[in-house]
Amino acid sequence: MKNNPLPRLDEDQALRERLLPHCRLSLGEVWEDPLGQHRVACADATNLSHIKNLVRDDRASLAIHDPPYNLVAFNLRDVDAFIEWCADWVQLSERFMVHNASFYVWLGADQNQHFQPLPQFMMMMQQLELFESRSFITMRNQRGYGTQKNWMAVRQELLYYTKGNPFFEVQYTDIPKILRGYYKKINGRKTENLERGRSENIRPGNVWVDIQQVFYRMEENVSGCYAQKPLKSSERIISASSQPGDCVLDFFSHSGSTLISCEQLGRRCLTADLDPIYCEISIRRLEHFRNSGKVGWQNGHPFEDVLEPSLDEQLMADE
Ligand SMILES: C[S@@+](CC[C@H](N)C(=O)[O-])C[C@H]1O[C@@H](n2cnc3c(N)ncnc32)[C@H](O)[C@@H]1O
Repeated sequence: MKNNPLPRLDEDQALRERLLPHCRLSLGEVWEDPLGQHRVACADATNLSHIKNLVRDDRASLAIHDPPYNLVAFNLRDVDAFIEWCADWVQLSERFMVHNASFYVWLGADQNQHFQPLPQFMMMMQQLELFESRSFITMRNQRGYGTQKNWMAVRQELLYYTKGNPFFEVQYTDIPKILRGYYKKINGRKTENLERGRSENIRPGNVWVDIQQVFYRMEENVSGCYAQKPLKSSERIISASSQPGDCVLDFFSHSGSTLISCEQLGRRCLTADLDPIYCEISIRRLEHFRNSGKVGWQNGHPFEDVLEPSLDEQLMADE
């Protein structure tokens, strides 16, 4: 396995200076997929003209947003300012969605700060009255923190809202059903759950325990990214809440997980990121997937053509 990772690209200023000249987008610009499927914008999620440039006359039936919820990364804005900012992009997103639509938001909850900003975000959504609450999903991470003096923190929150009456298709995990029971009479005959079920596997429900968190040994890993969601999670959301050909919005692209899942599932992705480097990574990841069938770089990285080979690579080449 290659050993050529990048550090967090939002924090390494010197590396950013080297990469920025290789980024195709600056703020306000949009990358058009030459195959006509997707668009990637370097955009501020709260800027109407940026988002108009991205979405144009399309309308999305699904949005999957994963905002930066680490308040430290967010210049220590207080929670009220963060929630006001969220209200801006939530309203903007809704403007560009069809009447029967699904809206998903990943959010953190700081257990040392009264679980902010989760309850404040929920209240804000209630007050906006744009969407109905539909489900409160938790995805279980494998790695956690605080194992000795507290319950290990391994959860990621995913809020599911709807407007109108959107499409929904039940999803299944890869875990086989093992329990028999739940007897029910159908046409006078006693049946049990295994024969009544539409799948031999269990459904994920609203606690997802079957998704592996991304780490450097997985092909889908994109090093330089610090908040990459597993493709299995975006694939599950997109399969449940959209149909082939539909438009999917994601205002916080980062590693481009929603973009890759849309490409794999035949949906059109309209995605944005404020940072030109993460826009470039998203575009490169799509191109890499189309050229190689690979969904990431494992422990290599997306800028190998523009950065000198690592010491590790030089040693391998010398051998
Ligand atoms: C939590 S990450 C998204 C992770 C993504 N779901 C993935 O799987 O890779 C948040 C992203 O939002 C971007 N961002 C921060 N502020 C933004 C803004 N105002 N508008 C658009 N993107 C923003 C950051 O650059 C970062 O890449």
